[in-house]
Amino acid sequence: MSAARRNLASCCVQLYELPIVEHLLGQSFHPGGVKLTRQLASSTLVSPQSDVLDVACGNGNSARIVAADFGANVTGCDYSAVNLEHARISSRESGLAEKTKFVRASAEQLPFAAESFDATLCECSLCLFENMDSALQQLHRVLNPGGRIGISDFFLSAPVPKSLDGLLGRVLCVANAPSVEAYREALSQAGFDFVRIRIVNWTLADMIKRIRQRMKVLTTAKAELNSALPADFGDPALVLADLEKFIASGGAGYLMATARKF
Ligand SMILES: C[S@@+](CC[C@H](N)C(=O)[O-])C[C@H]1O[C@@H](n2cnc3c(N)ncnc32)[C@H](O)[C@@H]1O
Repeated sequence: MSAARRNLASCCVQLYELPIVEHLLGQSFHPGGVKLTRQLASSTLVSPQSDVLDVACGNGNSARIVAADFGANVTGCDYSAVNLEHARISSRESGLAEKTKFVRASAEQLPFAAESFDATLCECSLCLFENMDSALQQLHRVLNPGGRIGISDFFLSAPVPKSLDGLLGRVLCVANAPSVEAYREALSQAGFDFVRIRIVNWTLADMIKRIRQRMKVLTTAKAELNSALPADFGDPALVLADLEKFIASGGAGYLMATARKF
């Protein structure tokens, strides 16, 4: 792994472990929250008979939604031991311990046998991985033939402004985001067909509104981030303001993609 990528990976894991992230984003660490997770599960044909894998599951909120609302058995995996511990505790507290399990693993080296899941999900995380293509190959490998993948993530339609090209822009999945066509190509290259991409920019307006409502805690966020992360991290409030402008100008958006393993 290159030094820059290692820096990004460790910053990302540290950032998403901070309690302030949950204060700002809520339980779901992705635009669209629970509503988009339900759409993704429904579009990947999840049913009570399904075994589902949620890669980079964070605190396990999506795993619990898919288990509770769709009746599926869900395995969540993430690189962060802290997030996984939160996930296990929340699942126990919500009576979903039998339907959910959580495993520490890297998206690029999934410790599961080939053809062991009916659906694989990856929300707002592909852009964070060292190598998106190898993560997609893993998501393909562990799927049963005919199984569906569902992803949601940022895409770019223009080069990112300098202010969003720092560590925080990368951790927020914007700086490294591919174009819509690059996602389509990457899914096809990984062996998927029936690729369907929907632009879901409504999720970004919701996310920014929610963060605005919680803006008062950004001072705390900055102090907390600065103590945990490198000095070159940037000012979260300024980066968010620039992100909002960039989205409004059409430079970035959010998509949901589904495809089938044939
Ligand atoms: C933006 S959060 C998304 C969490 C969750 N999918 C959600 O939508 O709530 C990104 C997550 O990716 C995890 N992560 C980052 N790099 C990873 C990797 N290489 N393998 C597995 N998880 C990773 C982080 O620990 C973090 O929990």
